[in-house]
Amino acid sequence: MRVSIFGTGYVGLVTGTCLAEVGHEVVCVDIDQAKVDGLKRGEVSIFEPGLAPMVRANHDAGRLHFTSDPVQAIAHAEVIFIAVGTPPDEDGSADLQYVLAVARTIGQYLEEPTLVVDKSTVPVGTADKVLATIADELARRGVDIDFTVVSNPEFLKEGDAVNDFMRPDRIIIGTGDVEASEKMRRLYAPFVRSRERFVVMDVRSAELTKYAANAMLATKISFMNEIATIAERVGADVEMVRQGIGSDPRIGWQFIYPGAGYGGSCFPKDVQALARTAHQHGLQPRLLDAVEAVNERQKEHLFELVQRHYGDTLAGKTFALWGLAFKPNTDDMRAAPSRRLLEQLWAAGAQVRAFDPEASSEAQRIFGERGDLVLCDSEYDALEGADALIVITEWKQFRSPDFGRLRSALGDGVIFDGRNLYDPAELEEAGIAYYGIGRGRSLTRSGSPGVVA
Ligand code: UDX
Repeated sequence: MRVSIFGTGYVGLVTGTCLAEVGHEVVCVDIDQAKVDGLKRGEVSIFEPGLAPMVRANHDAGRLHFTSDPVQAIAHAEVIFIAVGTPPDEDGSADLQYVLAVARTIGQYLEEPTLVVDKSTVPVGTADKVLATIADELARRGVDIDFTVVSNPEFLKEGDAVNDFMRPDRIIIGTGDVEASEKMRRLYAPFVRSRERFVVMDVRSAELTKYAANAMLATKISFMNEIATIAERVGADVEMVRQGIGSDPRIGWQFIYPGAGYGGSCFPKDVQALARTAHQHGLQPRLLDAVEAVNERQKEHLFELVQRHYGDTLAGKTFALWGLAFKPNTDDMRAAPSRRLLEQLWAAGAQVRAFDPEASSEAQRIFGERGDLVLCDSEYDALEGADALIVITEWKQFRSPDFGRLRSALGDGVIFDGRNLYDPAELEEAGIAYYGIGRGRSLTRSGSPGVVA
């Protein structure tokens, strides 16, 4: 099928590339000419495993095209995806200006009947707005062209997005139009392994499904972070508790890892936007508000542990920081817990030597040159002259460090483990003081400096 995709950001580029991979004729359109030129040369600016070679292969095979010309893209397509950003407004609601600008453009240049698909994460009711915007433009031109607006939310995880697209656990299609849902079924046929994975529903339910999925996952994380806080206080180890509950299939093993708080481009923004929608409808979404409040607090927890250990003597201390990205396998630092931690350390007068396998240039872009931040080439380089190590992103290469080397680099130093990667007993043996998240019991038993009263 002939498909055009507006927006070559994360979602648009993955969608376009994977649709081309199964044989569709795809045109990706973006207003950023430099980005389009780069993509034509096979340059992919985002870090996503497997994406760049797939972009190049499909571009070379002539199935994936890049352009900044919306007219050409609209003329090409039987199906047009809107996959542009919906950044948060000041009040937390999703800013629809880019989505509606694309809708206006479609209305201005549409010549043939088409299907318009909302892929961007948008509040309930947005498909109606997109429909009205396109209809207004067509009316202004005095033409009558048949089109339908379908909601098709994405569930891609950064770092595993290509895999998620190629092997989705479900495809959600929101439309009341049978012809439209059949067309979407044909488009997605190569990805659907069983019937129940392709779920057709009304537009508003599809829009709400996206928010419900992310809010549910964020709730699991905040819940576990709250249990971790309790564990710390009562002298229990949340890692034991996690192992004790995960095997119950009603709870499950996923998204019950306590840590430094969730970040990224989706959870923080989507939980806020859903809460905002509820407020706008006169509701008080107590649970969603709490999920966000717990996460905001959690992002400060590592610093609280650091302060608890060092008191008011942080000025002049140097901290090695392992990880900057909001999670492994990405260079994305949007809403990353590392950002809050860095601000807090700097405000207290501390120096930071940070290492992240992918996010150093992003950190450089965000923070620029500053005396209290050194971006290092390796995790061991970051330890040089450091008083303590803080681990904030669970990159695989941080999981089994050489503790002997850590011990000699840190001297009497401490490890603050924001992702509970290490075994407190092993560290005790290596003679390194250890703080994890919610690990009251092991600390109490060992009597290490990490004991939390
Ligand atoms: C998420 C959803 O998983 C995806 O379906 C949706 O389309 C977009 O939002 P993403 O933001 O890429 O994907 O990352 P994800 O792997 O879900 O992690 C989000 C955050 O939660 C990260 O900061 C991660 O560190 C944190 N997290 C995750 C935890 O703290 N504990 C967990 O148990 C799981």
